[in-house]
Amino acid sequence: MNLLITGVSGLLGANLAWEALRAGHAVRGLTGHRDLPGAPFPVRAADLTDPAALDAAWAWARPDAVIHTAALADLDACERDPDQAHRLNAWVPGAIARRAAQEGVPLVHISTDAVFDGQRGDYTEDDPPNPLSVYARTKLEGERAVLDAHPQAVVARVNFFGWSLSGTRSLAEWFFNNLRFGQTVRGFTDVFFCPLLANHLARLLLEMLERGLHGLYHATSPRCLSKYAFGVALAEQFGYDPGLIRPASVDEAGLTAPRARRLTLRSDKLAHALGHPLPDWQAGIVEFHRQYTTGYTEALRSWLISPLEDARYDYCAI
Ligand SMILES: NC(=O)c1ccc[n+]([C@@H]2O[C@H](COP(=O)([O-])OP(=O)(O)OC[C@H]3O[C@@H](n4cnc5c(N)ncnc54)[C@H](OP(=O)(O)O)[C@@H]3O)[C@@H](O)[C@H]2O)c1
Repeated sequence: MNLLITGVSGLLGANLAWEALRAGHAVRGLTGHRDLPGAPFPVRAADLTDPAALDAAWAWARPDAVIHTAALADLDACERDPDQAHRLNAWVPGAIARRAAQEGVPLVHISTDAVFDGQRGDYTEDDPPNPLSVYARTKLEGERAVLDAHPQAVVARVNFFGWSLSGTRSLAEWFFNNLRFGQTVRGFTDVFFCPLLANHLARLLLEMLERGLHGLYHATSPRCLSKYAFGVALAEQFGYDPGLIRPASVDEAGLTAPRARRLTLRSDKLAHALGHPLPDWQAGIVEFHRQYTTGYTEALRSWLISPLEDARYDYCAI
């Protein structure tokens, strides 16, 4: 399949491209502005909030299927610039969905667990969302725009961690970057989530496309935990001191955007549709560690470096 991945320089997009290539798909990737000269597939930068750039990117990719991961995913940046959050998280998904629907192209759109207010937890796809922040509100608008324009599309509400191109994008990297240098950090005991490893999520998204699913799905770990417990589990897996993680409340953190407490989502609908259990966060942490010890992080980050620069470096070293 000729797969277009938007947001391919992002945390999910990069790991998704890796998994799609591994599965034998032809990948084309879009970034907002970042160049990926070492990526082993064609990449192009396009500001998707510009309709002409979106048209040109579509003509370049000529996709058989699209997974749309690009977003303004920084909650505090969304509070600072609600117009840009609306353009990127609501208007762009609708525009991509209209284009995909016109051409009969399957689309998977990535949404978020944060559409819920986290008061009750244990949410199914039938529970009414109640977004607390600009980010969550605009992502919910994006979900609706996609399903209105392209009823055959998939909207996947997700939460994930993994290795990013920058090495600083995910919660797991944040714990890792501090714990490895013996730095103490705070872990919230009152915020719960159900994260998947980005690679595990990527494989599920590809399977959803291949199986021709459509509609709204929660693609999250079937087991959930607090952010504190996640940090402790990660420390134990890497052999770092879990005592470096201090239990804390999110109320003490002074964050700009409001955070929901119990973003625990039920993913039974997806497990049932796929006919197998979903991986959980624990399997994800084991694999996240294995990736670290087997050179995955370096391989991914080599996408940022031009092969020509690599060659020049080797030449100088000789
Ligand atoms: N991270 C999480 O824990 C989490 C949780 C729930 C849901 N999600 C959702 O998962 C998806 C992926 O999130 P992520 O964390 O992987 O995102 P990310 O790391 O912040 O990456 C965002 C991507 O969007 C691209 N982008 C930004 N502005 C753009 C523009 N104007 N035009 C085109 N592309 C643009 C960026 O390109 P440049 O690199 O060039 O800027 C980058 O590739 C998003 O839909 C997000 O809402 C994320």
